[in-house]
Amino acid sequence: MATVLWAERLLEQPEKEALSFQSSISVDKRLVFVDIQGSQSHVKMLAKQGILSAETAAILDKELSRIARDVEQGTLKIDDNAEDIHSFIENVLTERLGDIGRTIHAGRSRNDQVATDFRLYLKCAVSEIIHEVHATVTTVLDKAEAYAATIMPGYTHVQRAQPITVGFHLTAWASALIRDSTRFQDALKRFDECPLGAGALATSTLALDREYTASDLGFNGPVLNAMDAVSDRDFALECAAACAIVQTHLSRFCEDIILWSSAEFNFMHVADKWSTGSSIMPQKKNPDFAELIRGKTGRVNGNIVCLLTVLKGLPYAYAKDLQEDKEALFDSIDTVKQSLRMFRGMFATASFHEEQMKSACTGGFLEATDAAEYLVKKGLPFRTAHEVVARVVRDCIESQQHHIAERSLHDLKVHSTLFEADIYDLLRPEHCVNARTVHGGTNPQEVLRQINVLRTMYAAQ
Ligand code: ARG
Repeated sequence: MATVLWAERLLEQPEKEALSFQSSISVDKRLVFVDIQGSQSHVKMLAKQGILSAETAAILDKELSRIARDVEQGTLKIDDNAEDIHSFIENVLTERLGDIGRTIHAGRSRNDQVATDFRLYLKCAVSEIIHEVHATVTTVLDKAEAYAATIMPGYTHVQRAQPITVGFHLTAWASALIRDSTRFQDALKRFDECPLGAGALATSTLALDREYTASDLGFNGPVLNAMDAVSDRDFALECAAACAIVQTHLSRFCEDIILWSSAEFNFMHVADKWSTGSSIMPQKKNPDFAELIRGKTGRVNGNIVCLLTVLKGLPYAYAKDLQEDKEALFDSIDTVKQSLRMFRGMFATASFHEEQMKSACTGGFLEATDAAEYLVKKGLPFRTAHEVVARVVRDCIESQQHHIAERSLHDLKVHSTLFEADIYDLLRPEHCVNARTVHGGTNPQEVLRQINVLRTMYAAQ
């Protein structure tokens, strides 16, 4: 087992398995570069404050850069037996520099160090997720534009409801994704504060300059209260929640795709290269990628619950429980990033079966609301109009007719004399879609307007 930083205090050390149980290196080794960055700022500040000599600081700084380079080039392997990444770096410094390495931890604790590393890492990871979300919005909006006027049934309760367009449906998806990226941006704004210099919980008697390290590391400023700085994991919760929401959105989109690509719907063709087969059934073509994105949502949603549960009973300030924060969030970040990329690949290469979708607009009386609103425009109270059209639909079903327009004007007038010949044109699916020019509606021009609004929104983000 590698050397622990606190060995001197204890007469006996935990056994090998116990040490490995409390080690976090397998998870926090990905913080190696931000940890070095934090250490370099800390060293600069200690020198500026006269706590370390300029020569010592220069040697430490140079060695830290060398460690970063060695790790990058693979000539320094991160020791899987180290307690955590912070101990590992300090131990390497001391192995290489002797007593000079032993000076670096003045005025800091692993408690403020890990909180700083975590935030630095997340600033970058969150920007990458935002980038992936934007790329996905572009893919979805490009399809929405291409199919802005393509008619399909809109559903409620998975029962056909009213005719809509593919562009309209996809614009709903894109709206959700735009909110996702703003959620990450909001979180980023709030956690852009530096915990470094908070020490174990109460700062230090050394004359640290926390403003300096905060600005040197590119933060907006230092976290106001030191105890808050080492205890707070709101930033992890917010990021995990934002991940769970975007993943849940992808899961719902995938559910649409799974339904649409089934033989029963036959609305969509998923490319062969984004499908898989069966080991036993030779005919099968399965939407595994969509299913897996939907499935992984369970774990991403579990991660936010995991973090909340770790935090809920924690007294102030730091407790080792907090070490469990990174595994959950890293997993969410990795999963969301990969799912967004897979979703894009699968969706960009999929195509819609326009004829099939159009013909599915007949047979479910999707025009019924339009018929009722026709009567409202002629002065009938809506509830009465609803009942009139419900009776017409019943007549149709009894006579095995699939569309209100199949009934003669005479048959319609049995239920309301307000029906005239002009009703027939209004009941065509194209008309149902075009007539909804209301803000947010299905009219293709209105859908194009929505697409433009969304494009402007994310260009401005
Ligand atoms: N590996 C620890 C973590 O991730 C670093 C902080 C340890 N601090 C301590 N006092 N044991 O939380």
